[in-house]
Amino acid sequence: MTGTENGAGSAPAALRGRLLSITADPAGPGDTPGFLYLEDGMLLMADGRITAVGPADAMARRLPAGAVVDHFPDDLIVPGFIDTHIHFPQTQVIASYGAQLLDWLNTYTFPAEQRYADPARAAADARFFVEELLRNGTTTAVCYGSVHPQSVDALFTAAEARGMGLVAGKVMMDRNAPAALTDTAERGYAESRDLIARWHGRGRQRYAVTPRFAITSTPAQLDAAGALLKEFPDVHLQTHLSENPDEIAAVRALFPAAASYTDVYDRHGLLGPRSLFGHCLHLEEAELRRLSETGSVAVFCPTSNLFIGSGLFDAAAMERPDRPVRTALATDVGGGTSYSMLRTAAEAYKVLQLRGRNLPALAALHRMTRGNAAALGLEGEVGALEPGRWADAVVLDARATPAMAHRMAAIDGDPEEELFVLMTLGDDRAVRATYVQGRRVHDRASDSARHAG
Ligand code: GUN
Ligand code: ZN
Repeated sequence: MTGTENGAGSAPAALRGRLLSITADPAGPGDTPGFLYLEDGMLLMADGRITAVGPADAMARRLPAGAVVDHFPDDLIVPGFIDTHIHFPQTQVIASYGAQLLDWLNTYTFPAEQRYADPARAAADARFFVEELLRNGTTTAVCYGSVHPQSVDALFTAAEARGMGLVAGKVMMDRNAPAALTDTAERGYAESRDLIARWHGRGRQRYAVTPRFAITSTPAQLDAAGALLKEFPDVHLQTHLSENPDEIAAVRALFPAAASYTDVYDRHGLLGPRSLFGHCLHLEEAELRRLSETGSVAVFCPTSNLFIGSGLFDAAAMERPDRPVRTALATDVGGGTSYSMLRTAAEAYKVLQLRGRNLPALAALHRMTRGNAAALGLEGEVGALEPGRWADAVVLDARATPAMAHRMAAIDGDPEEELFVLMTLGDDRAVRATYVQGRRVHDRASDSARHAG
């Protein structure tokens, strides 16, 4: 770090460096999003929010004498990343060998999630989880808890302590899971309702009603989820949809009256603009049309889809102009294999390549920041370096490893190329610092000193 003596925990008045932020959504498929790039820019911050952005010399004149400025002349400063689908109780499921979805759930995931009945275990792992997100530059995340409400209390508590914003919920599961992991339709409803009362709208925290997926909820429980959405219209809904062929066959057998997997959720009132459907890999035309009509969001989880062998997200099918489906990008740890949204973007690029498309660096940055904010309806709050939004930012070092530094030596100052190197070769090692509400919550230098010591 250059020109600053402040470590983790400091709250400078401004960040100075090479600022890059997406300013406008792409007009359509293949369009480049609008962006702001300032070679020597400055972000002014007060009370946790961004107050002004502009050239450093002009901004510096607005600062009182002696104001602390964190200066990163060599790095790219971008908005904090947003992860739209990640499982808090899967920090020790990540990197579990050799199974497709249903076996993976039964063999690894359900046993691991039972440990979160213990509030002390939940609290310790929630602190780990939140720190790991911040180390990776993720400052807003949409999270699944375990079935135990105490797991979600622990998670919100850990996030609140660091100032980051979560959208999270306890999973509702009342069948086809071990007894220790099931609630009932009534209990799932009551526990979710209590969590909404405790956490929804408290600071930056928001609730997502979270029926895990159609296989583990009875129709009565899906009704209960729908009732919660009616009662609390500004909460989110998150679940999984059409990830794996065996899963789809099981849903068809469990819900013979439904026309499709999507129709199961539709019949229970679960589609809508605040509804996030993880995966959406094997959808039929009628399902895509319903997702489009309702403004529902299909969440692309590339590292998970590759690792569990689930399939290749069909971005072209989502982007059909006559019935566009809103999309978001996510890690899906622990089916996903990295907490890093940079690495997630790299895998998204490869999946799209296999589908005859690709993902330009600015479009990837859009997905990681402004686009994901819009998918969550949080575009006024996060996702861009713009006045009024939370002062959440990531400082990215494109020379973090020898291979990256060597590659960067062949680039002459084009920020788009640099961003592509960051997303293709980068991960947590490239995150020099993370700021949440203007406070430095991760500092790579002190982090490595701590791990060394
Ligand atoms: N479907 C239902 N639960 C899960 C989960 O935990 N991870 C993934 N990838 N898919 C699911
Ligand atoms: Zn998931």
